[in-house]
Amino acid sequence: MDARQMKIKAAEAALSHVEDGMRLGIGTGSTAEEFVRLLAEKVADGLQVQGVPTSERTARLCLDIGVPLKSLDELPELDLTIDGADEVDADLRLIKGGGGALLREKIVAAASSRMIVIADETKVVDTLGAFPLPIEVNPFGLLATRIAVEKLAARLGLSGEIKLRQAAEDAFTTDGGHHILDASFGRIPDAEALAIQLNSIPGVVEHGLFINIASFAIIAGEAGARTLKAK
Ligand code: 5RP
Repeated sequence: MDARQMKIKAAEAALSHVEDGMRLGIGTGSTAEEFVRLLAEKVADGLQVQGVPTSERTARLCLDIGVPLKSLDELPELDLTIDGADEVDADLRLIKGGGGALLREKIVAAASSRMIVIADETKVVDTLGAFPLPIEVNPFGLLATRIAVEKLAARLGLSGEIKLRQAAEDAFTTDGGHHILDASFGRIPDAEALAIQLNSIPGVVEHGLFINIASFAIIAGEAGARTLKAK
């Protein structure tokens, strides 16, 4: 099974949790896009759902292939969000934001009764942090915010390069008009402490640590899809 087939397997399994009439948060990234494609087929067959996209990229795909959309202001309470992840650990802590949509992804997931993560086995880790942690920051005072993040990391015993994400010649800009610092810590032994303290830095808009948000994860591997629940 190649990487795309695994993403499709996870997306198929997630689709079985979607019921008629649901208000759905719809994630961002290549795995979430496989889910959108399968969802569009069900919608064409008569399934009624209303989707709230977590990015402009996802919104465009949904509109192109016929998944009905609402804004989060129109549907502020959702039944279920389905989204990918960059890393998942055994306690269902996640790193997200590889696709730059972490702020909207977190807002949408938090507005949902349940969040199901869809991923392949390569995303499952013992300790978060091999994937660089995306930290969404306000462009105002970028350097000051970066220094504050570096000092916080040092206090927590974390080291590694913190890089401003680029898109072609310029700094990458999120749908919300912010930038992203990607922090290559390698290992994040205390994700809870880092999450809380990052949120106390004024220039940090949000970070890619999703803790106590996912309900369960559907992990696809060679043998098919399995459910990962928190220990
Ligand atoms: C986007 C995300 C994605 O869910 C994450 O990057 C996983 O993407 P993919 O399914 O393409 O591996 O958090 O901000």
